[in-house]
Amino acid sequence: METTMQFSQSVGKRSSAEMHLLLLICVPLVLGEVLPLEPDLENIQLTIRRSANRGDKLQVFQSIWGAIRSDFATDTDKVKGLYSHLGTFIRDEMQCTSGASGRSACELQQEVRRHLRTLMSQRLANLLNAEESIQTYGMYIAASVEPAMVRDVLVNAIEDVYFYRPSDKLVQQLEQLFADRDEVSFRMMIEAQLTLFWRYQAMQDSSESFLFNMAHMVSKIRTHHMYASVDAGLQKRVEALGKSLPPVLGLLFNPQGFCLLSRSDREYIYTTITDEWNYGLNGRQVFAWHEQNYTDSAGLIRAFVQEQHSTPIFTLRSELFKWYFFVDPTEGNRLGALRSGSPSSSSSFWSIAYVEDALIFRQRDLTLCAAEKHDNDRRLVKMLPGQMHTPPSEACQWLPIDCASPK
Ligand SMILES: *[C@@H]1O[C@H](CO)[C@@H](O)[C@H](O)[C@H]1NC(C)=O
Repeated sequence: METTMQFSQSVGKRSSAEMHLLLLICVPLVLGEVLPLEPDLENIQLTIRRSANRGDKLQVFQSIWGAIRSDFATDTDKVKGLYSHLGTFIRDEMQCTSGASGRSACELQQEVRRHLRTLMSQRLANLLNAEESIQTYGMYIAASVEPAMVRDVLVNAIEDVYFYRPSDKLVQQLEQLFADRDEVSFRMMIEAQLTLFWRYQAMQDSSESFLFNMAHMVSKIRTHHMYASVDAGLQKRVEALGKSLPPVLGLLFNPQGFCLLSRSDREYIYTTITDEWNYGLNGRQVFAWHEQNYTDSAGLIRAFVQEQHSTPIFTLRSELFKWYFFVDPTEGNRLGALRSGSPSSSSSFWSIAYVEDALIFRQRDLTLCAAEKHDNDRRLVKMLPGQMHTPPSEACQWLPIDCASPK
């Protein structure tokens, strides 16, 4: 098959179709693979030699399609070769609207296209089901057919596996389509995620872990440096997807960060600027401030995905000093911010759930809550037991909002 591909690239447009048709059929013959076809193939070659007009060529295409269908029906490369030559033929010599033979040429092309789409999408679906890497095959598809067909293949493959594979897992699997630094595969990965998301919407499904993973994915796509060079149409569709996600997740994954207000008191969590903690220079206290709805840069937090399980595990970083939040069991499970190279999994890793517009932060069976007053202005923020029900009490629900910008 490699011979064929190189050949069709090195030969001029006009004759390459005809020569390619010969090769398409001859390669297996040379290898002696499919003997029963021999008589037919000789006829085809004769026809090509005599072929002078478009009608004859169409007949040749039809014979070749017949031969492929009966003996090479699962040979994607052969079907692809025929599909692309038919495309050239229709573009240059026989438009769909040019009467009866134009119409049959296009019917033939559509039939070949349908078959090619099935082959490609089935292979992709099989890889997804087997949880094997789809990157190489994805790049093969992207390099083989036009963007509309790539999209068509993705739609088919995703539809095929949607009810079989967990949707949250599919988000991660489809991410593999993106091969580092390759823009074509980046766009293809975006197309795949869009397809998956709208499939999920159309089925009116409801999966928190799917939405988490998709919101994370959208954030990764938007903040990737290649996103700026993605065409406007695709960007618009990504933005529309973003708007369809729960806003609370959009804020959680906002690369600019967010502030958190307790639902019970509407007091924001902030990291103190001067109050050192029992770790000397290495810790700072964290409180909720008494002024309702007040926010500033001392409250700016960013969430980072630390581990990707079915739903992600997060770290939370106070952006003022870029110190990670942690829980101190020796201080009644208070929240603090710790200067540390790598946050520890036992005290700084959070699982996050959400209810409506509020986030819920948990470690094991403890939940992050606004607790008792520390003094007139400040309230402690602590991990409390007994809040595992959904939703937990309002003191344990945190509303992410944009922080007020520094004045
Ligand atoms: C805080 O914001 C909420 C929601 O917008 C509002 O109902 C409440 O009155 C505000 N409180 C203050 C003190 O501004």
